[in-house]
Amino acid sequence: MTVHNEAKKEDIAKTVLMPGDPMRAKMIAEKYLDDYKLVNSVRGMYAYTGFYKGKRITVMASGMGIPSIGIYSYELYKFYDVDNIIRVGSCGTYIKDLNLYDVVVAYDAYSESTYAKDFGDNNSIMKCSDKLYSSFKDMANKNNIKVTSVRAHSSDSFYADINIDDLVNNKGCSVVEMETFGLYFNAKYLNKNALAIYTVSDNLITKEKATTEERQNSFTEMIELALDVAINL
Ligand code: HPA
Repeated sequence: MTVHNEAKKEDIAKTVLMPGDPMRAKMIAEKYLDDYKLVNSVRGMYAYTGFYKGKRITVMASGMGIPSIGIYSYELYKFYDVDNIIRVGSCGTYIKDLNLYDVVVAYDAYSESTYAKDFGDNNSIMKCSDKLYSSFKDMANKNNIKVTSVRAHSSDSFYADINIDDLVNNKGCSVVEMETFGLYFNAKYLNKNALAIYTVSDNLITKEKATTEERQNSFTEMIELALDVAINL
């Protein structure tokens, strides 16, 4: 147990699906898991462990931002012996080629964050785990789901006045979210596996936004894909 997570070590599975929102973790457990139990509720950051198609899996929320996912994913890897974390989130798009509700996978993530620097790593780009990436692409192909691979911008500020042109043309980013860089760094630092997949919920150029209900529906396809990847690792 840690100060942030009251689950016992044996209560957490080797693979964790990680949405940002605790209510989404609850929804995933209720909709997809058999024999699930709530194993953490400290700070409302719910974690549920149960069975999907007979395989044991944990779904735990990360909260918003690199500092939050930084804490929870570090503890899962380091103190709970978790091997794989799959972030299932939403993102905004910086480019016109992506549409609302598209499923996107982050091959890598760029960030201005000091998170990695705090550990002595000065890289501003962190990469996903090849193993999870290829499993995910294979599963998407098998299910005929179109997935676009991108570099994500893991921003520290939702309301910042950002220079999209610089992020797209100089940094190579196509989408924005707030967590993946921290997750990928932790996986690299602790020699574990991580992957982040998103559905596009906002277009930062056209200012289109998915409604809450629409977000929910597009999320379903991605969650089912992530669960199938998780149980086949
Ligand atoms: N900014 C940061 N994170 C996000 C966004 C955004 O516009 N949309 C979804 N996650």
